[in-house]
Amino acid sequence: MAKPWADISQDVLPELPAMLGYEERQFLYWLGARSEGRTIIDLGTFLGASAACIADGAQAAGSDSRVISYDLFLYGPWCEPYKSRMDGFNGKDVFSWVENALSPWGDRIGLVKRDITTQRWIGNEVEALFVDFTQNWDHHNHVCRHFLPHLKVGGILAHQDYVHVLCYWLHIFMERFADHFEVLSRRIEYSTAAWILRDRLPPEAFEPLNKQMTVPEMMDLLASSITRYDGVWRALIELSRVRFILHAYGVDAARAELKVWQDRNGMHESAQPHFEVLKQEIEDWPPTGDPYAGYFMTR
Ligand SMILES: C[S@@+](CC[C@H](N)C(=O)[O-])C[C@H]1O[C@@H](n2cnc3c(N)ncnc32)[C@H](O)[C@@H]1O
Repeated sequence: MAKPWADISQDVLPELPAMLGYEERQFLYWLGARSEGRTIIDLGTFLGASAACIADGAQAAGSDSRVISYDLFLYGPWCEPYKSRMDGFNGKDVFSWVENALSPWGDRIGLVKRDITTQRWIGNEVEALFVDFTQNWDHHNHVCRHFLPHLKVGGILAHQDYVHVLCYWLHIFMERFADHFEVLSRRIEYSTAAWILRDRLPPEAFEPLNKQMTVPEMMDLLASSITRYDGVWRALIELSRVRFILHAYGVDAARAELKVWQDRNGMHESAQPHFEVLKQEIEDWPPTGDPYAGYFMTR
């Protein structure tokens, strides 16, 4: 499918510090511009750039849609690279800074400073879900149970960090329910992928998949997703499979799979830092396989 956001000019995109690529910001602006008055949910807004792009697109298009953005809004080491662009910031809590940075969009943006895993959506059906915080299965399962059921048919689900090494659960989920979605884009640079919900999801989509499927079944789904990508993108998602193996089968199996990955891929320059981080995660992992021991059905 052609990318309808491709021609959106850099000049119209809000300039806030962000862990987003140029194309991701175009996409989010487009998401707002195509909205038709319903809410758009932004899970993990960081310093507010995703919220600003969506709200600005909605405003430019004259849509009444609002963005509700969730985050802990805490300052951590991950904020350091952006500090030079955070005028006047000097504290531990970024909420006030973000609130001020987003003031040009006024009531179009609602900020929720909470742990997302304690939150649920209870409003009307939503236009889109932009998910950019899941670091483990529990995060993902929470989104599936408490936010995804409210996505309207025809609405958009976008996962940041999809074309990346961390979030193998996203691939398993999207492959398992692929029949219910139309692919909007398999890669929006840096690492987002997006789908249109085409028909209602079955009840099992809202329950933890890791408790419904065996590891081999989930491995097959991940393998199927990997075949949809080439080059360095495939190599990155293959690294996420090493992670899955670590979490499901433990250190020895992960080491062996990492060796297979290295033999197959040589070394993509841009995959190298992720390879090193994963190698360290394997070294640091408890030999028992905790904390995921007992989390999966391995047969
Ligand atoms: C990768 S960043 C998001 C980047 C952002 N969308 C942007 O536009 O630059 C992930 C964000 O998720 C937030 N986060 C992680 N776990 C969270 C949780 N359990 N509840 C709320 N926010 C969380 C972090 O505070 C961080 O700001």
